[in-house]
Amino acid sequence: MSSQRTEIPAEEIRRQQTICLRLRERFAAMPHAPLAMVDTYGCQQNEADSERLRGMLAEMGFGFTEDEAEADIVVVNTCAVREHAEMRVLGNVGALSHTKKANRDQIIVVCGCMAQAPGMAERIRRSYPYVDLVFGPQAMWRFPELLERRLAGRKRVFEVPDEPGSVAEGLPVCRKDGVKAWLSVMHGCNNFCTYCIVPYVRGRERSRRPEEVLEEAREIIAGGRRDITLLGQNVNSYGKDLDDPVDFADLLCMINDLPGDFVVRFMTSHPKDASEKLFRTMAECEKVARVIHLPFQAGNDRVLKAMNRGYTRDDYLKKVELARSLMPDLVLTSDIIVGFPGETEEEFEDTLSLLERVRFDALFTFIYSPRPGTPAARMDDPFTREQKQARFDRLLETQNRISAEKHREYIGRTLRVLTDGTGTGRSGFPETTARTDGGRLVRIPGELPLGVFLNVKITDSTTWALTGQPEDR
Ligand code: 5AD
Ligand code: SF4
Repeated sequence: MSSQRTEIPAEEIRRQQTICLRLRERFAAMPHAPLAMVDTYGCQQNEADSERLRGMLAEMGFGFTEDEAEADIVVVNTCAVREHAEMRVLGNVGALSHTKKANRDQIIVVCGCMAQAPGMAERIRRSYPYVDLVFGPQAMWRFPELLERRLAGRKRVFEVPDEPGSVAEGLPVCRKDGVKAWLSVMHGCNNFCTYCIVPYVRGRERSRRPEEVLEEAREIIAGGRRDITLLGQNVNSYGKDLDDPVDFADLLCMINDLPGDFVVRFMTSHPKDASEKLFRTMAECEKVARVIHLPFQAGNDRVLKAMNRGYTRDDYLKKVELARSLMPDLVLTSDIIVGFPGETEEEFEDTLSLLERVRFDALFTFIYSPRPGTPAARMDDPFTREQKQARFDRLLETQNRISAEKHREYIGRTLRVLTDGTGTGRSGFPETTARTDGGRLVRIPGELPLGVFLNVKITDSTTWALTGQPEDR
C-alpha cells in the first residue's frame, strides 16, 4: 500500500512559497492594501482547507474581508455532497458577476469538491466566463502557482486532473477561531458508498505521518487553543497506507500524551472500522472527549447493502453496545439519509426504530440527493419528493423528542464545559456559550472569558441546548 502514497517533496512546497513572495511584491504595488475573501461551503474538512488557503493568501500579502465587493480576490471553496449545496454555490458565484463588473481586476477563484465533480469545470467554463481560476482539492497546495499562471496569461486556468491525490506538508495556515482548531489527519476516501461523490472528488485515502500531526497539534496547543477536532472522511482507516505500524487509536494516545490543558475529538468514524481498541482508547485517554460521530445512514439491511456500507443493522447495534459498555456517558451522534433510491416505507420504519433503540444525542439528517457519476444516481426510484419529505419530517420529530428528553436528563448534573462564544440570551441579557466535552451547547448567563474550562451545573434544557451556572464562581 505504502508505495501508492505520494508526499509532495519539500522543495516543491518551497517553490510555492517563493511564488507567494513574488506575488506579494506584485500585490504590494496596488494603490491600496490587497484584500481577500474566502467563502467556505460544506464540511469541516473544507473549513480546514480554507485555513490553508487563507494561510497562502496571507503569505501573498492579503488582508481579509467578509465583503466580496471590496475584495481583490474572492475564493469560493465549494461543496458537492448534495445538490442543494451546489445550487447555493452556483447562485453565489453568479452574483459575483456584479462585483467583477464593478471591479474588472477582481480575481474570482472556484475551488474545492464541486470544482472537481464530473462536468462541473466545463459548466463553469461555459456559463461563468468571469471566473478566473478553477481547481480541485488535490491541486490546492499549488494555489500560488495556479494564481501566478492566471495573472501571467490571458487564458483562464482550469486545473482539475483526475488524480488519487497526495500529502502536502508545510502549507501555511491562518486559523480564525481562537478556541477551537481543525486538524486533518488524513485525506480522501476509499469506501465508495454508492450515494457519495466524495471519493471521486477527494481522491484515495492517504494519511499524514504521525510526526506531522503531532507537530501541528503542539502548535495548536501552544497558540492557546483548547479544543482540537481531528478530521478525516474515515479516521478509522488512519495509518493503513503508512510504513509505520500505527493506527488511529495509537495516534489518539500520542495526542493525549502531549502536555497542556485541551480536549481532543474526531470525525468521522465509519462504523465498519470502529474497533474495540478505539473505544478502549477513548475510555482510557483523559483528554479524548467521550463523543463519537458514527453515521449509520439507514436502519435496514437491504438499504445498507445497496449503499455499500459494509455493515448490517445488527453489527451497528453491537458496536454501539460495546462502546457504551466501555463509556456509559458516551455522547453519540449520527448521519442519516432518507429516501435512498427504492427505500420503501417499511425500510424507512427500520431507520425510525433504530433511532428509538439507540437514542442518539443528535442527528444530521439528509434527504437523498442524486449525485451524477455515482452508482445510486443510476438506480430506479419510484418514490416522490413529497413522500421523502413526509418521512424526513417524521424522522426529525422523533429525534427532536429524543434530544429534548436526553437534554432534560442533564438537569441537576455538573459538567465540564469549554467557553467558546458570546451571545444574547432570551431575556436580552448577555450570555456566554460553551460546549460540553460531548459537544452539547450550554448557555451561561453573563459574560465570561473565552477558552476556559469550567464546571457548570445544568439548570434548564431545550431540544437544542442546555442552560447552566458556573459552580466554582
Ligand atoms: N445525498 C444525501 N446525503 C448525502 N450524504 C452524502 N452523500 C449524500 C447524498 N448524495 C450525507 C451522508 C454523509 C454526510 C456527510 O452527508 O449522510 O454521512
Ligand atoms: Fe462518502 Fe462513504 Fe466515504 Fe463517507 S465513507 S465520504 S459517505 S464514500
